[in-house]
Amino acid sequence: VTGLVVAIDGPSGSGKSSVSRGVAKALGFRYLDTGAMYRAVTWWMLKHGVDVDSPEAVAARAAEPVLSIGTGPEAPTVRVDGEDVAGPIRGAEVTAAVSAVSAVPEVRSRLVAEQRSIIGAGDIVVEGRDIGTVVAPDARLKVFLTASAEARAARRAAELSGTTVEAQRAAMARRDALDSTRKAAPLAKAADAVELDTTELTLDEVIAEVLRLVKERT
Ligand code: C5P
Repeated sequence: VTGLVVAIDGPSGSGKSSVSRGVAKALGFRYLDTGAMYRAVTWWMLKHGVDVDSPEAVAARAAEPVLSIGTGPEAPTVRVDGEDVAGPIRGAEVTAAVSAVSAVPEVRSRLVAEQRSIIGAGDIVVEGRDIGTVVAPDARLKVFLTASAEARAARRAAELSGTTVEAQRAAMARRDALDSTRKAAPLAKAADAVELDTTELTLDEVIAEVLRLVKERT
């Protein structure tokens, strides 16, 4: 990696996507949403009738879905076997199943390899759960975003229609518990990551702080 890698990890609803895209735009960098890759594989498993609660069944087909992930921060594209799934991968069905699929080591090893290949020479902002710990341990800057459960649920509920803050809080608590306790690359703050609590900050304030941290390191 010759260029810069900015790793942004954190639980769901901490603001990773908006912050990462804003930082990438400001720096003229590419942007990689690794969560979209786990969601795309999950979408494919559901479409093909794979029992997502069986790690063996998921592992057996982990190599099959062909992913194509765009890295433009404006409108990142997500294709599986040539089909545009940018919308469907945000649906409730995929969201409910993605933690089980992403806990399967065969899924992780293939996606981590693809993520490293996309990162390539760098100049990229990468968001996920294990970027600072596993995917890009040498990233120049690692940020671990957090926010109160209340703030995270409220943000997510505002993004989605037909849901409540309470329903989002329950769904996120479940997903975060699964993501944090799995054996393979659990959600964790890297020892050298800067923790940023976004509860009381606006999006622009968080982006400005990350840009300041980037500047400090260049
Ligand atoms: O970030 P997003 O909510 O789209 O991620 C969806 C799910 O993908 C997470 O809940 C987690 O289970 C999985 N994931 C992961 N490792 C990453 C990114 C996402 O396990 N680097």
